[in-house]
Formats: sequence, C-alpha cells, structure tokens
Amino acid sequence: MSTPKQKKFYITTPIYYANAKPHIGHAYTTVAADVLARFHKLQNEKVFFLTGLDEHGLKIQRIAEKTGKNPQEFVDGISEEFKNLWKKLNIQYDSFIRTTDQKHKKAVQEALQGLYEKGSIYKGTYEGLYCVGCEQYKTKNDLVDGKCSDHNMEPELLKEESYLLKTADLQAKLIKKIEDDEFKIAPEKYKKEILSFLNGQELKDISISRKNVRWGIPLPFDNQYTAYVWMDAFLNYLTGINWDGSENIPDLFPPEVQLIGKDILRVHATMWPAVLMHLGADLPRTLFTHGHILAGGKKMSKTLGNVIDPNDMIKKFGADATRYLLMSAGTFGEDVDLTMERAAEIYQADLANGLGNLAARVLAMAEKTKSEKLKTKNNNPGFEVKIKNAWLDYYKFINNFKLNEALEMTRRFMSTCDEYVEKNKPWQMEGGEKAKTIYNLLESLRHITWMIKPFIPETSDKIFTQLFADEKERAAELSKTLAEAQKWGGMKSCAKTKKGENLFPRLKI
Ligand code: MSP
Repeated sequence: MSTPKQKKFYITTPIYYANAKPHIGHAYTTVAADVLARFHKLQNEKVFFLTGLDEHGLKIQRIAEKTGKNPQEFVDGISEEFKNLWKKLNIQYDSFIRTTDQKHKKAVQEALQGLYEKGSIYKGTYEGLYCVGCEQYKTKNDLVDGKCSDHNMEPELLKEESYLLKTADLQAKLIKKIEDDEFKIAPEKYKKEILSFLNGQELKDISISRKNVRWGIPLPFDNQYTAYVWMDAFLNYLTGINWDGSENIPDLFPPEVQLIGKDILRVHATMWPAVLMHLGADLPRTLFTHGHILAGGKKMSKTLGNVIDPNDMIKKFGADATRYLLMSAGTFGEDVDLTMERAAEIYQADLANGLGNLAARVLAMAEKTKSEKLKTKNNNPGFEVKIKNAWLDYYKFINNFKLNEALEMTRRFMSTCDEYVEKNKPWQMEGGEKAKTIYNLLESLRHITWMIKPFIPETSDKIFTQLFADEKERAAELSKTLAEAQKWGGMKSCAKTKKGENLFPRLKI
C-alpha cells in the first residue's frame, strides 16, 4: 500500500543586510516564520525554514571601509550576532544562508551564465536614481522632497552600461498570476497596491549588474561587473535549498510562504518573479507582507533614541515572553506599536497574571485532588464544544496569518477557564462534582499548552512536564500530531501531575 505523500511546507524570511546587528524588525519576521514552521511541523508536514544574511553590496562595502575592516571580516562578525540572537529566541531554522557562502556564489554565477546564454540577460545602459540605503533604483514618484522616505537621503544619479534582465515583456503574465492568486500577495491591500503599481506604468528591464561595486559576485561573462545585490540576494531562496544554479529546480521549491516587510514588497513582486520566470521555476504560493514595528507611533531610529534592542527584551522578559510580546503586538500585516512600557504591561496581564497564574492554579488543585479519581467522560459537554470551536478558530487564524488573533483567542479561552474556576469554586466542592470540574480545567490546560506550543515552545514544554510528570506519558503526549492532540480526553488522571516552577515571575517595577 502506498503511503500518502507528506505535504511540504517551505517558508522563508528575507535575508537581512549584514550591515548592522539585528534589530527588533528582524526578530519580528523571524519569530513569525518560526511560529508558522512549528505549527506546520505539528501537523506532520515536511517543513523547511530558511533564513540568513544578505552580505554583499555597496552599503556593506562602505560600512566595512568605515570601520576599517575588510568586508568579509565585518560580515562574519555580524553573522555571529544574528545566529546568537536566533539561538536565544529558539528559532529552529533548517538552514542559515549567507550570500558569501562559496556554494551560493558558485550557483549564482552558474545561473547568471545560463540566463545570459539564453538571452534573458543582455547588455544595455541603465540610468536611474539609486538609493544606497534601499540598494534600489527609485522613481521620481517614490521620493518625498527629492529624498528616499525610508532612508531620508537623496538618491545618487547613476548612469552606466549595465546588464539587464528582460522584465518588460513579462508584465502582462505577472499581472495575471497575481490577479489569479497563482502568486498570492497577502494581505489583500498589498495585492491591490502591487496591481495598481503594475497597471499604472510600464515595467522597465531591470539592471542586474554593478560596475563600481567590488563587494559582490563577479559576473561570469564579464568580470568588470559584479551582480546587483538584489539579484544575488533573491537567488538565496533557491541556493538555500541546495540549488546548484542549473535548470533543475529542487522539489522543495516554490515556497508555500515568503514573509517580507512592506518596504521590500515591490522588488519581491516584480524582480523576483521575473527572475523565476526566466529560470522556468514556479512562483511562490504566498508572499505575505507585514507592517513595521513602530515605537510609540514613530519609526524607530537611532536619532530618536526609541530603538528597541531584541537582546534587551530577552534580558528583561525572557525568550518566550519576547516571542509572545512580538506576536501579540498587533495585527500581523499592519504596522504595530511596541514600547518597553507597553510590553511590560502585556507581560504582567497576559503572561504573569494570565497563563502563568492559570497553570499554577489548575496544577495546585490537581495536586490536592490526587487521591480522588477524576471523571474523564461526559463532564461538561459545553466545555468540550467550546474547545472544539477554539481549535477551529485557531487553525483559521494561523492559516490566514492572523497570528495575533490566534493568541488573542487562546487568551480569551484562558479567561473562560478563570471564570469557570471563580464560578464553580472547586475547592468548595466534593466528590464527583469536584472531580469533574477539575478534570475540565486540567484538560483545558492541556489544550492551551498545545495551542501555545508554536508561539512559546519553552513554556509549553514546561507545562507539559507539569501535566505529565511521568516521562513515558509525556513522550506519548508529545508525539501526537495537532489533530490527535485536540481530541477531548488526553488527560487520563491527575495522579501524575506535578506543580513546578513559576512560569512567568512578576516583573519588579
Ligand atoms: N537584504 C534585504 C532583503 C533581501 S531578501 C531577498 C533587506 N534587508 S533589511 O535588513 O533591510 O530588512 C529585512 C527585513 O526587515 C525587511 O522585511 C524589512 O521590512 C524588515 N524590517 C526593517 N525594519 C522593520 C521594522 N521596524 N519593523 C518590522 N520589520 C522591519 O531589505
């Protein structure tokens, strides 16, 4: 009998510029990707999660020069900082690609050679206003008072002989693929934004080379040039899954989801699909665009002194709480606001008083009831229905990237449990009634622990250790898929629970 093919789930983050240490925006995307990867792993899918660093280009060349380091030495240092942060945040990536990896460079050259030979790339002249901050050409319409609004600097006028990727001819095909959601751009407002951009002007062929940038991958057919940093960078999504630059596209491709920030949507919705079409590869299934993290409604900037360092957040709240605070900060897809003060309030409310308190309370009650037999069947059908509905919402939210809403729903379910405790006062009950009530709470806590698992995995594991103190039973529980886990009745008794450490100590303010 043939077994059904395991569903694949390939997810990527952008590769971050290695020009500075990681900031909170990078942590935001990477945690979100990790949550999605873990959620799909729990469904027994074949998950591949790729992240990494974009290490070439003028921006990095200039920064390295300024610090007196050679660029490779400079990016090596930054790469360690990113890897350390991901380790602290429990990011389970499957591969960490660096565009200075030999394998990547070789594959990019191979691919460029192929594209050149088949005429997708040709030599021409390119003239445009170039913003080094974005490493992108800008149109006049993109500028505010002559400056790039993202970087508050005037772009440089560049005119040089250049190698160009045929893009103009692909415009109609691209529009169709976006309209049909074959290449789905989400949320909807970003799809509209891109379609209005594409319908509003003619696409020009895109320059894929740079003449005076030494810090890049030399074009194999003309070593006076290096590859334009975005061309180099986009190919990471292929080289990161072991592509060699040939026409054989790995089976894992295309990604089910690519997460990006709104400032890099346009290149991802134009240049990237153009490259893929020339390579004969399928386009990503979904390009999901999130907003920016603002601090008190303002863009974070060193000058304003409102930049949140992810390491500071971890120091203050711990890794899991930082993941929670990022994912619950606001609608995923919109700009969200985050300040350390607000984060501390949410920590106290949702984690210390919410989850931490509920788990401690329920486990304490279970310990006191150990000698009594819990009634595990037909306890409270209403409760069972509530859990069923909570799971339906949970899936719907996460499958639609509403990560904050999945957490919000879980939080509301915890409040229902708190209210149930207040209303029933199990400590005043006796016999069967008491056993029933405590069972409902314990079983609910098990469901909650599964729901939070992709978001705050360490905490989830800690609660599982308390719910299933017996190692064998715990291993059996943890080997379940999400579909199995959500069946009512996973807790068999409370004889083997064990109340443990405080999950979220209250902050000393
Ligand atoms: N290297 C390119 C991406 C190449 S992908 C083929 C790049 N790097 S970046 O480091 O500048 O930005 C990476 C990501 O961080 C982008 O998705 C960007 O939107 C995101 N963020 C930068 N600042 C941010 C916030 N303040 N908040 C949320 N995300 C932010 O662009």
